[in-house]
Amino acid sequence: MKNVTKIFLAAALFIAAAGFVLTSCTKEGPQGPSGTNGTNGTDGKDAAETCKQCHAKAVVDRIATQFELSKHSWGSAAFEEAGNPGCDPCHTQLGFLYVVDNNIPATFTLTGGKWVNNYSAVYSASIGAISCFTCHSSLHTTYGAADLALSTTAAVPMTMRGGALTIDLTQDSSRSNLCVKCHQPRPLTANTSYDPSGRLLNYDSLVIDPLFVQYDTTPGAQNKGIKPSYRMHNHYGVVGAVFAGKGGIEYPGTEDYNSSPHTTVASCQDCHMSEPMYGIAGGHAFNMRNAKESALSSSTTWNFSGCNVTGCHALNPLDANTAKFKNTRTEIQGLLNDLAAKINAVGGGHDLLHRDASATNLWWGLTTNNYDGYLDIYDASSNPTGYWKLTSQPKFPSLLNVQVGALINFQFCLREYSLGIHNTQYVRALLTNSVQALTAAGL
Ligand code: HEC
Ligand code: HEC
Ligand code: HEC
Ligand code: HEC
Ligand code: HEC
Repeated sequence: MKNVTKIFLAAALFIAAAGFVLTSCTKEGPQGPSGTNGTNGTDGKDAAETCKQCHAKAVVDRIATQFELSKHSWGSAAFEEAGNPGCDPCHTQLGFLYVVDNNIPATFTLTGGKWVNNYSAVYSASIGAISCFTCHSSLHTTYGAADLALSTTAAVPMTMRGGALTIDLTQDSSRSNLCVKCHQPRPLTANTSYDPSGRLLNYDSLVIDPLFVQYDTTPGAQNKGIKPSYRMHNHYGVVGAVFAGKGGIEYPGTEDYNSSPHTTVASCQDCHMSEPMYGIAGGHAFNMRNAKESALSSSTTWNFSGCNVTGCHALNPLDANTAKFKNTRTEIQGLLNDLAAKINAVGGGHDLLHRDASATNLWWGLTTNNYDGYLDIYDASSNPTGYWKLTSQPKFPSLLNVQVGALINFQFCLREYSLGIHNTQYVRALLTNSVQALTAAGL
């Protein structure tokens, strides 16, 4: 409000000053006859009235309080990644609005022998914590309720796939597309020391040619593709892809790649923003459970208010102990453990997957061994106690295409966080069929 007072004060001073100047240089003649009275004007609008639509305890003030508890607000990624245009379409306000306003495509183009990822912001627009103005970019344009419109609800071409697949969640006026624009996986590209062009991994070949050696430790082998590392991954935002049932490495198997009803009837906001809030879960805190840290414990309390509305689960309301919730999560947890065991089996007694039993592991408690989706490869800064090495003993093993595909699917299904609640069928199919594909390859 301070700003507004200043503006009014400045305006008042300006009018006073202008008035003084006018009277001082005008010569007065004799007074003329009085004119007829004008008609009454219509009442003007109090500008402050439109502000009050939002600037009220029940609106902006209430939501700003909730938002403090959202990782969008307290998380540090927006600060850590500031000034990195490649990261900032998803991590900063200006970067996000840049790719939205300029309709930046998710394509890769070959420029001077290198594949350039076009999905990027620019240096002049790569700052800003995620705030009200990130998702409601029209705020303070007309000063009316329409200013709350979402910044984008357009279909989202997937950056992981170089735009070859598009996610479009059309239910509820497509509002989930806002979230998916950021909560989507990132591309895996060839290591430039192997292939200087840095091309996008051919995901289709992982299915079509499962026995091809993607990473070959045989002395003298000419590796052309991706290089395993601690962080060989599709980043952290896989939820949008899993929810939409798109982008996983779809091996044939006993399970069909269908999606559960959530994909077409529920939107992200239905579950993550439902009110009344339950502790710090719901509303603009965006959490699903009343716990700021990631650790799941027996006392974890969930916000089911979004699930149990008419048209969804109102007739058989859900809670943490209902079969639909509990058994689904137990089943998917079992499948995650199974796929992990299968991926690790080639390690001759030592896991390929990295374990992290500390509270900072975002996926703590989701698998028995607390995997986090990274590989246990030595990395001086990120994984100094890593077991496997690429150039000395113990040497990380060769990887077939099917193993790379299974790793991607493990990351997808672990890092969607919900143990299948987002899209049970798709997660079940990716996990089950990956195990079968590894078996078929003799692994
Ligand atoms: C459509 C909703 C809406 C309307 C209408 C609206 N505002 Fe805002 N305003 C916001 C939001 C949201 C914020 C950010 C609050 C926060 O970050 O906690 C904000 C913040 C502000 C701030 C703080 C500075 C800033 O930019 O963050 C001022 C000053 C302000 N508004 C003045 C006004 C005035 C004056 C009017 C009426 C002429 C008005 N607003 C109308 C939503 C609105
Ligand atoms: C501008 C990009 C962007 C948009 C749009 C966006 N998010 Fe996020 N979201 C992020 C980032 C980045 C983080 C992690 C922030 C950090 O770690 O500092 C995050 C964190 C979260 C978290 C917490 C994750 C955790 O690990 O605890 C939830 C839940 C979430 N977002 C849900 C949503 C939902 C629901 C929507 C749509 C209404 C949405 N987000 C829209 C970028 C975005
Ligand atoms: C396509 C969108 C997108 C791009 C591009 C992107 N990120 Fe992220 N990133 C996310 C989302 C979404 C999250 C939060 C996921 C969650 O917590 O569920 C995240 C989380 C993170 C985190 C927090 C992880 C944690 O442990 O809390 C870091 C660090 C990070 N990103 C770094 C980067 C860096 C560095 C780049 C650029 C090289 C980058 N990101 C590019 C979407 C993106
Ligand atoms: C990550 C994206 C995101 C951020 C950040 C965000 N909002 Fe929202 N907001 C939404 C979505 C999604 C809706 C639901 C709109 C819909 O369905 O049309 C919404 C709805 C609203 C509404 C109308 C519904 C209601 O509960 O009254 C208000 C007011 C609002 N937001 C204010 C704010 C304010 C104030 C902030 C900052 C403190 C903020 N928003 C930050 C995504 C966001
Ligand atoms: C049917 C309800 C439901 C819908 C719809 C839903 N989610 Fe979730 N989401 C969950 C549950 C349950 C979890 C697990 C939360 C936990 O463990 O704290 C979760 C976890 C997450 C997380 C990690 C959050 C955290 O706090 O650890 C993110 C990010 C997320 N969802 C984003 C989204 C996005 C984006 C969409 C839409 C594309 C979406 N969700 C749709 C139920 C839902």
